[in-house]
This record gives sequence, C-alpha cells and structure tokens, in this order.
Amino acid sequence: MDKDIVTLAIETSCDETSCAILRNGREVLSNIISSQIDIHRKFGGVVPEVASRKHIENMNLIIQEALDEAKMTFDDIDIIGVTRGPGLVGALLVGISSAKAIAYALDKPLIGVNHIEGHICANYIEHKDLEPPFTCLVVSGGHTYLIYVKDYTEYEMVGRTRDDAAGEAFDKVARTLGLSYPGGPVIDKLSKEGNPDAIPFPRVYLENDSYDFSFSGLKTAVLNYINQARQKGEEIVVKDVAASFQQAVIDVLVDKSIRLAKERKTDKIVIAGGVAANQGLRELMAQRGQEENIKILYPSNKLCTDNAAMIGSAAYFNYMKNKVSDLYLSVAPNLELI
Ligand code: KG4
Ligand code: ZN
Repeated sequence: MDKDIVTLAIETSCDETSCAILRNGREVLSNIISSQIDIHRKFGGVVPEVASRKHIENMNLIIQEALDEAKMTFDDIDIIGVTRGPGLVGALLVGISSAKAIAYALDKPLIGVNHIEGHICANYIEHKDLEPPFTCLVVSGGHTYLIYVKDYTEYEMVGRTRDDAAGEAFDKVARTLGLSYPGGPVIDKLSKEGNPDAIPFPRVYLENDSYDFSFSGLKTAVLNYINQARQKGEEIVVKDVAASFQQAVIDVLVDKSIRLAKERKTDKIVIAGGVAANQGLRELMAQRGQEENIKILYPSNKLCTDNAAMIGSAAYFNYMKNKVSDLYLSVAPNLELI
C-alpha cells in the first residue's frame, strides 16, 4: 500500500461536538464525542443557539483530546475532513471554521463531507472487508433514504421519505407519550416489554413499486389513538403503544430494503444512521436477511449516532477520488446526498 493517510475529522452538525483521528479511512485512532443531550433534554429537543455556543466552548478541547488519545500532533495530519451539511447552520459553522483554520495553518487538503455520507461510511469502519456495491438503508433523525451504493462516494437514490424521517417519527411519538428526548432509544427499550400486535397501526407502502416512505400518517394514527383513549378514560399501555408503533415503522423499512436488495441482486444490506441502533430493526432485518440469503450489516451503537470518525472515513474516500474542497468551503444546512 502507498503511504498511510492520517485524517483529522470534525463533526458539529447537531448536538454532538466530535473530533476523530483515522488511519486510511477505516482504522480509528481516536473518536471523541461530547454530547449535549443532557442540556437539550430539558427543552424537549435541540436548541440551535445553545448548540452553537456549546460547540464553540468545546471544540478546541475536543480536538486536543483526539490528538492526545491518538498519540499524535498536528504535524502527523495529512488531510482534514469536516461536516458541511446537512445540519444546523450555526453548529456547522463552528466545525467548518475550525477545520479551515487547521487546514490553512498546516497547508493540508480540506474535505467538506456530507453528514449522511458519513453515516454510510461508519460501516466501512465497522466492517473492514465491506466494499460496494450494496443496498443501504439510511435512517437518521432528519433523513430516511434507500440507496444503491454503486461505488465509494457514488450513490443512486432509490427512495426517500415524503414527509417525516424515521428518527423524527420516533422522537415525535415519544414526546406525545410523555417520554424523554431523544425518543428513539426510549421507544426501543419499552418495545422489548410491549406487545407489537396490541394496536394495528397502519403500514404505509405508497404505490406498489415505490421505494419511498411516509411516516406522518402513522404518527397521526398514534396521536389519534392516544387522544381517543384519553377521551374515553381508557388506560394507555405505553409499552404496547411503543411496541406497536415501532413494529409499524420497521415492517415497512425492512420490506422495502429487502425488495430493493433482491431487485438489484446485492448480497448485502447496510443500515446507517441513528435509528440503525434500533434493536427491533436489527433483529427483523437479520431474520428476513437470513430467509433471503442477504447479509445484514450495521455499525456498533457508538458509530450509529453522530460522531467524527464516520466523517473522517467519508473524507478519506472522497480524497482518494480527488473530491477535495478549498478554503472557500461553506456550510450547506440543507445539503442532499445527491
Ligand atoms: O443519525 P443521528 O444520530 O442524527 C441525525 O443525523 O439525525 O440520529 C438521531 C436519531 C434520533 O431521532 C434518535 O431518536 C434516533 O436516531 N435513535 C433511535 C435509536 N437511537 C437513536 N431510534 C430508534 N431506536 C434507537 N435505538
Ligand atoms: Zn446524524
């Protein structure tokens, strides 16, 4: 192999301040994540202005910690990767400004990374032999995509949500049930004790041949169920509502992913994004994958949710394809994958 490439990566798109050092895009030397969840929880969601301020406070400390843990100095860094979008504009600006300063001072290449591409690349870190092509289901707080990954950094968008993202639906239903933020992990945990067949919530498949998703009808159905039960004075069994809702989401996610993998004849489905941590989704996907002879891959929990290592991996693969930014790089809060 040619000379090793050491990447310093920064992620500040939402409420995690993170910096990572990687060797050759797959080997993580450090991945420091400072979560602000405890601060935002009392507001029931992320407060953008607070997030930006906390990123500013933490950024330099986190960068130094990442270097220290990797036993490196700035002189060892070959390329700098940073999330440029999608995300909160003020939060993204903190990461981009820091990354630009480092790239300028070291006179090293800067690579602006799409956060969603980062989530996909988390799988290259977790699964050292994983290579495209494969079918990929991206399920995060803001995005739900079904993608055919043709090559490193080459994507074909096959389906997407027409309204709420999967993670967003988890968070909104959790809020309606009076559960804490972020709702996904709480619903996941409660679902293990609840009955997924207790309430027949709708599975929305859209047109027969569609790979798109829609979760807002399901969200409304849960809301209506809760309101009607309250009006009638009936007991709401929270764990059953959680389990039935989760099952309705994952049934559709898994069905469409398997259908695409069969259509494209890929022998792998890769799951990415925060909702890839969902136990029910992992289990159902694994079960259906086994029946269809399709291998199911997903990152470990730490790499599922926001972290800079995944951004470093994406930066490396972009760099290898000469997709490099310059110091005019700007934030792109609504950036699409393709
Ligand atoms: O990918 P991510 O960390 O941030 C975005 O880029 O959006 O995803 C966060 C989302 C939140 O909506 C959170 O509720 C959801 O991922 N999430 C989960 C689980 N862990 C995190 N949803 C379902 N089950 C989980 N175990
Ligand atoms: Zn994310």
